[in-house]
Amino acid sequence: MTTALSVRNATKIFGAQVALDQVSIDVEPGEVRALVGQNGCGKSTLIKILAGFHEPEPGTEVTVGGQTLDFVDPVASERVGLRFVHQDLGLVGNLDAVDNMALGQGYVTNFARTIRWRTERANAREALAALGYDINVRVPVAGLQMSERTAVAIARAMSPRGTPAKMLILDEPTANLPGAEAQRLYQLVRRVADSGVSVLFVSHHFDEVFEMAESVTVLRDGKHIITRPVEGLSEDELIELVVGRKLDEHNKRDAAAREHGPEVLTISGVGGGTVKDLDLVVHRGEVVGVAGITGSGREEIASLVFGGHERSGEISVDGTVLPENRPDVSIERGVALVPAERHANASLLDHTLRENITLVDPGRHMTMGILRRRPERADVQVWLDRLDVRPANSEFTMMQLSGGNQQKVVIARWLRQEPSVLILDEPTQGVDVGAKADIHRMVDEAAAMGAAVLVTSTDHEELVRVCDRVVIMRRGRAVDVLRGDQISADNITAATIGRDTNEPAA
Ligand SMILES: Nc1ncnc2c1ncn2[C@@H]1O[C@H](COP(=O)(O)OP(=O)(O)OP(=O)(O)O)[C@@H](O)[C@H]1O
Ligand SMILES: [Mg+2]
Repeated sequence: MTTALSVRNATKIFGAQVALDQVSIDVEPGEVRALVGQNGCGKSTLIKILAGFHEPEPGTEVTVGGQTLDFVDPVASERVGLRFVHQDLGLVGNLDAVDNMALGQGYVTNFARTIRWRTERANAREALAALGYDINVRVPVAGLQMSERTAVAIARAMSPRGTPAKMLILDEPTANLPGAEAQRLYQLVRRVADSGVSVLFVSHHFDEVFEMAESVTVLRDGKHIITRPVEGLSEDELIELVVGRKLDEHNKRDAAAREHGPEVLTISGVGGGTVKDLDLVVHRGEVVGVAGITGSGREEIASLVFGGHERSGEISVDGTVLPENRPDVSIERGVALVPAERHANASLLDHTLRENITLVDPGRHMTMGILRRRPERADVQVWLDRLDVRPANSEFTMMQLSGGNQQKVVIARWLRQEPSVLILDEPTQGVDVGAKADIHRMVDEAAAMGAAVLVTSTDHEELVRVCDRVVIMRRGRAVDVLRGDQISADNITAATIGRDTNEPAA
């Protein structure tokens, strides 16, 4: 049997940074391989070389099904049978599945070059059915569930384009998928693999490594550390391989941290988007979580509260009402929002880390109109070190950092404000296990210093780790609250997919 993917001595150097150092891996046909490692270890660099985005250093050799890959452009990669689903999925929200699947491969046309819609629709439906999905292909994909959107992206990647697909490569496929929907992705990947196509996926979620992959490759500092079967490997062993040392046990916050002060954030009767009639109070020093499947309203709460959306009802901070649609006023009153999808929502990619961090209060180190650069750099450096941003050079641009490290910079920007209300939406999306523990510790610290913290997350283990109370959203409403010992990942998952007793079974 010919090896599906063979990578020899993959090396990539950016300036003085060796991003990938002589990495060699082999993946067999139909094998599902996880690619794991800390932020900045070289995972995306390897994938971008395979995708034809980066030209590797001389000596790098890649074959796909025995065919040599020329590192020229994405078309060359596609021609040898490599297919990619990038983290943002690359779908256009206001187009339907048919149009999205035609993007990048063209429509089926007849002699007069008119589009044969019936064939297009049938093809789209068939491709999705092969993956086990029965989706209305005529509605804009923005209206689909996250897992359905992922299915459309995978169906598009797998559709024939001259050469059949030999390998599907996914960069953090479940970054935005709530637990219940992630289960559907696991089945999807199984189907792809059962058809003989190999799968290589990047993930920071070790539960999904164990669930989906047969084998795992660990990179550290650009080097190949180990490739081994998942069977017989424990989660602790995997963490140790990734981090290079044992991680401290990170327990829940201690009881002392749970003595809460007065009301800080008061949300009364708030509605907007799918959210209806939300009442929620967060006290000084308290961390409140919000869980819910996609479409439950969970993903809208952060920006509703911050003031980025039209809304009804009232939100106040320390008794003063926040005007709607005025995030600037929210910031003045001490509200900070770390949004999800920070790549799109929060970073200035061609600006320095320093500019990205001081963005919200550029005047802090200004004396009589003159910026005092040295104190500003020192101030920024403290935060780069606290969040272990690598490389910790304040004058690098965001573009030069890996995805996870960019996220740490955005988090630093807001923690540095010492906000009285801290809203975090998917705070550890895309960050590695070590950084995740650091960020959780910082949430504890922010609360200990008196912030009222609201965390919305699809990562239920994360909610268990940081929250004093977890509010469950279903169909736009807060339907349940878990406290104390009730807060477990299983209870949260069960509550998010539970059905309201007063609603008819759909
Ligand atoms: N365009 C670039 N210019 C300069 N350096 C870069 C560039 N892209 C990546 N790097 C550097 O290469 C190294 C590897 O980055 P890469 O994006 O491959 O990490 P990763 O493993 O995907 O991390 P993450 O889990 O955070 O996404 C990092 O040190 C990063 O700063
Ligand atoms: Mg990456």
